[in-house]
Amino acid sequence: MLKVCNIVIVGGEGDLAFRKLYPALYSLHRENLLADCTKIVCFGRGKFKPSKFIDNMRSWAQKSEYVKALDDESWGSFCERIIQFSGDATSADDMKRLRAELGPEEIVFYLSTPPSIFAPICKAMGDAGAVTESTRLVVEKPLGESLESFNQINDTLFEVFKEQQIYRIDHYLGKETVQNLLALRFANIFFEPLWNRTYIDHVQITVAESVGAGGRWSYYNESGALRDMVQNHLLQLVCLVAMEFPARNKANDIRDEKLKIIRSLKKIDASNVTQNTIRGQYTEGSIAQELVPGYKQEKDAQGNSDTETFVAIKAEIENNRWQGVPFYLRTGKRMASRYSEIVIQFKPVIFKFIDIDPNVLNANQLVIRLQPNEGIQMNLMNKVPGLSEGTSLQNVELNLSFEEAFEEHRSPSAYERLLLDVTRGDQTLFMRSDELRGAWKWVDGIIDGWATTGQTSKSYKSGSMGPDDALGLLIQDKRKWQVFEG
Ligand code: BG6
Repeated sequence: MLKVCNIVIVGGEGDLAFRKLYPALYSLHRENLLADCTKIVCFGRGKFKPSKFIDNMRSWAQKSEYVKALDDESWGSFCERIIQFSGDATSADDMKRLRAELGPEEIVFYLSTPPSIFAPICKAMGDAGAVTESTRLVVEKPLGESLESFNQINDTLFEVFKEQQIYRIDHYLGKETVQNLLALRFANIFFEPLWNRTYIDHVQITVAESVGAGGRWSYYNESGALRDMVQNHLLQLVCLVAMEFPARNKANDIRDEKLKIIRSLKKIDASNVTQNTIRGQYTEGSIAQELVPGYKQEKDAQGNSDTETFVAIKAEIENNRWQGVPFYLRTGKRMASRYSEIVIQFKPVIFKFIDIDPNVLNANQLVIRLQPNEGIQMNLMNKVPGLSEGTSLQNVELNLSFEEAFEEHRSPSAYERLLLDVTRGDQTLFMRSDELRGAWKWVDGIIDGWATTGQTSKSYKSGSMGPDDALGLLIQDKRKWQVFEG
């Protein structure tokens, strides 16, 4: 049964709306996942004439890797859902006008605007009587830059909405491969018995990007990699790898378990920040044979800056399952290639019944490739075939490519999944306040630690895998980063 609701995109003429939201809504429409009477309201300042607006939508939808072929018939019926509404979202009169234009169905308000105007927009909605018990609010990051500013933003939302009406987006949670993490862990019997400190040596999570700070320099310069990527995306991945089995497959049960992981993260502050974190900033270099400028030389760069465009962290979870198992996290811009993967490095077998070449890593590994070439790889020890004296072993890969295994299935974009879940009223893939508070608290410790110790960003060449010191973070523990195999 499809939920009937209208979807209002506030900031509906913005970049995110064109690049991600409308293509995702079109795909949902094409798959018949929107109720017949659902309207999509593009709430903007009236920058575009109607025909130009639709043309723009169409050209972005065509460019989307998830939409692939766009057909005229479904595009035509999709356009019938569109209401281009121009007004000031902070004005209660304009909100009233909007309310009057829509039917009695539930409304999903999607705030694709800077958080600095969340408060007046919510107030206008409230004053206009546009909010009922069933209205839902979707908000995008950045939700604050510290625990304190997160609380301020959140409190303004709470003046009009309740927790169960608020959907805080972390688009990583909408990615197919990220959702598959829980299925993989909990639906395969052989992982769970090994998923702990007895068998796992360490975990690595890498989210590497080849793009630079690009046209978002001023936002990024205030934020840096720690706030932009670690506080949300990487910590959510840590939670999904490390959490316990939830009591039920329900939003709050899953979020309760994630919260426990966030609360169990060992504090990093001035006393241990230099041993456990590395900051970096890219300089000029080349990526895929193309010369790219350094961070401070980017087109819209404004002067000097020590903002980190790379960060590597040794995180530890202080609980019974993970005590003593480091989680090495790294993320950065302008790295050698764009990829995200999780490596579960198992411990070596203790009893060696045959001599093993010391250069062969005698330990199993599970690599979960989140993007691109989504899939799973297991490294297993095997005898090298042949008649040579003695037994030689080799670590060989068992590869599962999702694209090949699920040839007939289209992989939806993260925003399709998330928008659909909002219409269904399912909060599982959205972050609860307490999760975000916990994540900010941990990140604040690192930021304060950097400020107190004066830890600066080390340079790294664009097209590399970050500063050399990031290698040291693992070398000091006699480990090394996994090399990406493409
Ligand atoms: C966003 C960050 O949340 O995620 C960006 O603000 C980053 O800086 C992006 O580029 C990465 O997302 P994806 O889906 O391309 O890995």
